Amino acid sequence: MDMIPLFHNKHIVLGVCGGIAAYKTADLASKLTQAGALVDCILTESATKFIGPVTFAAVTGRAALTDADLWRTDAHVPHVQLGESADLTIIAPATANTLAKLAHGQADNMLSVVALAARCPIILVPAMDGGMWSNAATQANVETLRQRGFNVCGPAMGRMASGLVGAGRMEEPADILGFARVVLGKRSAFSGQKIVVTAGGTHEAIDPVRFIGNRSSGKQGFAIAQAAIDRGADVTLIVGASALPTPFGVTRINVESAQQMCEAVLAASREADALVMAAAVADFQAASQADQKIKKTKDTVDLEVKLVRTPDILQAVKEQREKTSGPRVTIGFAAETQNLLANATSKLHSKGLDLIIANDVSASDAGFAVDTNRVTLLDAGGGVEPLPIMSKAQVAEHVLNRLAALLK
Ligand SMILES: Cc1cc2nc3c(=O)[nH]c(=O)nc-3n(C[C@H](O)[C@H](O)[C@H](O)COP(=O)(O)O)c2cc1C
Repeated sequence: MDMIPLFHNKHIVLGVCGGIAAYKTADLASKLTQAGALVDCILTESATKFIGPVTFAAVTGRAALTDADLWRTDAHVPHVQLGESADLTIIAPATANTLAKLAHGQADNMLSVVALAARCPIILVPAMDGGMWSNAATQANVETLRQRGFNVCGPAMGRMASGLVGAGRMEEPADILGFARVVLGKRSAFSGQKIVVTAGGTHEAIDPVRFIGNRSSGKQGFAIAQAAIDRGADVTLIVGASALPTPFGVTRINVESAQQMCEAVLAASREADALVMAAAVADFQAASQADQKIKKTKDTVDLEVKLVRTPDILQAVKEQREKTSGPRVTIGFAAETQNLLANATSKLHSKGLDLIIANDVSASDAGFAVDTNRVTLLDAGGGVEPLPIMSKAQVAEHVLNRLAALLK
């Protein structure tokens, strides 16, 4: 997993309670560490019956704490230090017992003492049998905790260890990480900004079963949406064809054709601070769509499909910006196979963009479907910034750095 700037050197307390899902928390500890965080794990006495502190120490590279550490004499009140210095506390799994303790301010073990001393946001990830979760006492405790500002992640629906199917499963580590990005990001520079991002390719129907599409995977647009969440933005992601999972906290709007994408973009960006058009929108669509599947007969030799222009979304956005407020900043992408910079510069100016990301999609390590990209950023003031090959997540960081400057 790549380092995630949001987590770099962030101090995270990861509390582990005595539930079967505790084994999955080792994966979460590993993911947070790989993302760049400094992770201090605290295991309750019950948690140690399910998984040992050695596992957490090994995956985090830091000492994992148990109740014995509450009574240590070689450090100055370690629980207060931990609680005060943490940027984020996550308790996963959060048992019914620990939720009850926290709701009542009880502090009789290392984890509950640290949670009470904490000044940072706390994420609770409940996991328990369905009956324990739906019990009125647990529900009341969770409600109390929510009202006091605790962030509750899950539980998910599915099969629990008891065999019961329902609500009670711990969210998967990747989803907890996504949730943590939203909570941590809330304190960042884009907090309160509304950003619309488009991603994926469009499908232009020929008949009810066939379409003209393109090779866009949506990876670059999704990376930009995730990076904007990490910086605290309110993100709407308008997606054409893409099988990628929605980043936590993003409002996703699925569309199919260029026409639908145009309508969705105009509506979503009317009040937005910024629009980042990373989708690969078709330039042409079938002049007419057959109502029924086009059949081949034994005499069919060829088939002509007449293509006409699709709506020009960036042009429509430009006109909207001229008439109303529209997005304050508009960023486009130019995916080209030749004359990259000349074509991108012409698009930058003709569409009134603030920034364009020129993307050579003919290279095997850049453009569609791959995880890396090599782009040049061109701005309306004539600035040209070529970037070396890097991951799409890193490209997203560069784009958002430029967006931050443009929004100032
Ligand atoms: C095999 C087993 C599985 C358990 N699984 C859970 C669970 O998933 N969630 C939960 O809230 N309690 C579960 N419990 C009960 C807790 O371990 C028990 O309430 C304990 O006191 C929790 O302590 P802690 O909150 O300090 O970790 C389980 C107990 C056993 C023996």
